[in-house]
Amino acid sequence: MIKSFAYQYSPFSDLATKNILMTRRHFLAASSLPPLMLQTTSPALKRRVIIDTDPGTDDALAIFLALNSPELEVEALTPVAGNVPLELTLSNALRLLEVAGHSHIPVAAGADRPLVRRLITASYFHGQNGLAGIQFPEPTIKPVAETATQLIRRLVHASPHEIGIIAIGPLTNIATAFREDPELPRLIPRLTIMGGSLSGGNITPAAEFNIYVDPEAAQIVFRSGVPLTMVGLDVTRRAMLREEDIQRMESSSKPEGRAAGKIARASLNLVRQTSAAGGPPMHDSLAVGTFINPSVVTLHDLYVDIETAGTLTAGETVGYRKAPMRASPPMANASASPQSMEFKPNARVALDVDVDPFLKMLVDRIAG
Ligand code: BDR
Ligand code: CA
Repeated sequence: MIKSFAYQYSPFSDLATKNILMTRRHFLAASSLPPLMLQTTSPALKRRVIIDTDPGTDDALAIFLALNSPELEVEALTPVAGNVPLELTLSNALRLLEVAGHSHIPVAAGADRPLVRRLITASYFHGQNGLAGIQFPEPTIKPVAETATQLIRRLVHASPHEIGIIAIGPLTNIATAFREDPELPRLIPRLTIMGGSLSGGNITPAAEFNIYVDPEAAQIVFRSGVPLTMVGLDVTRRAMLREEDIQRMESSSKPEGRAAGKIARASLNLVRQTSAAGGPPMHDSLAVGTFINPSVVTLHDLYVDIETAGTLTAGETVGYRKAPMRASPPMANASASPQSMEFKPNARVALDVDVDPFLKMLVDRIAG
C-alpha cells in the first residue's frame, strides 16, 4: 500500500535539484538555517516569484508579506477577477504597490471572468472596494501593456525553472497561460496556491472560494503536471489574526504596516458582522509563508482533482491519499463498475500548520 507522507524538505529543494540560482555552498548554507530564520538572505539566494492575485483584504497582507520577505524577489503582480471585479483587483494591486514603495514592479491585467462561468465575487467579505472599505489614494502607476498571461509566459521562458508562482485568487490566469503554452508547467519550479479544502468549503459546503469561482481553470492547473503546493482551508482557516497582531500593525512605522493594520481592523469588523468567531483568516498570507518556508505547514502527497460537473459540489477539491482511485460510475450505465486509476500524487497538500510562528513571521515582517 502506498502511504501519503509528510514532506520534510528544504524551501530551496526545487532550485537545488535543478542547480539553479544557487551554488552547492549556498544551498548547504541556506538549508542548515532554522525554520523562519532566513532573515539575512543574500540577493543570490532570493527566489523569483510572480504573485497572481485578486486583492482582496487578505491578498493585500499577503502581498505586503512577500514584498517584505528577503527570500523573495517579486517579479510581477497579475490581478484576476475574484473577490471583486478585475477593474478593482487591478487598481488595488497598483495601490498596494505604491503604498509599500514598490511602484517599479510590473502589474499586468488578467482575466475579467472565469473560463466558462459567470463571475461570483466576495464583496460581502472584502467590502465593495475589495479592501474592506479602506480608501487609499488613486494609483499613479499604470498596468503594463502586456496581459497577465503574456507577462507570465515571457518571464518564465526568459528564465526557465527559475520563476515560481504564488496564486492567491481564482486560477483563471494560470490555466489560460497553461492552455496557451502547454510547455509552461514544466518550466515553473513551484506553483503554490491558496485554494481548495479537504475538510469542507467556505462558499458552499463543498467548495473553497478560489476554486469555486473557476473550477474548470483549477482542473486544468491540477492536471497540468506543474509542481503544485495546495494551501487550502484545512490550514488557512486556523491562521487568524489576533487583536495584538492588528495593534502591532496599526502602530507600525512603515506605511504598509499601517495600511495592513487598517485593512485588518476593518476586516475584523466585517468578520464580526458575519458572526464568525475569531479574527480575519490569513488565507493568502499562509500561501506566501508556505512558499517561503514549507516547514510552517505539514505537507502530504496527494492526488487532487476538481469537481466540475456537480450542481451542488462544483469546485470541490477531491483528494486521494492512496490507491484505489475511483471516479463516480457513468450515469448512463449505472451498472458499470468504476475503473480505478494508478495513484500518482499531483500536489503537496498542507494539512497541518504551526500557527504561532507563521503569525509572528507575518506581523514581524509587515509591521517591522
Ligand atoms: C480565498 O478566497 C478569497 O476570498 C481570499 O482572498 C482567499 O484567497 C479564501 O477562500
Ligand atoms: Ca485572494
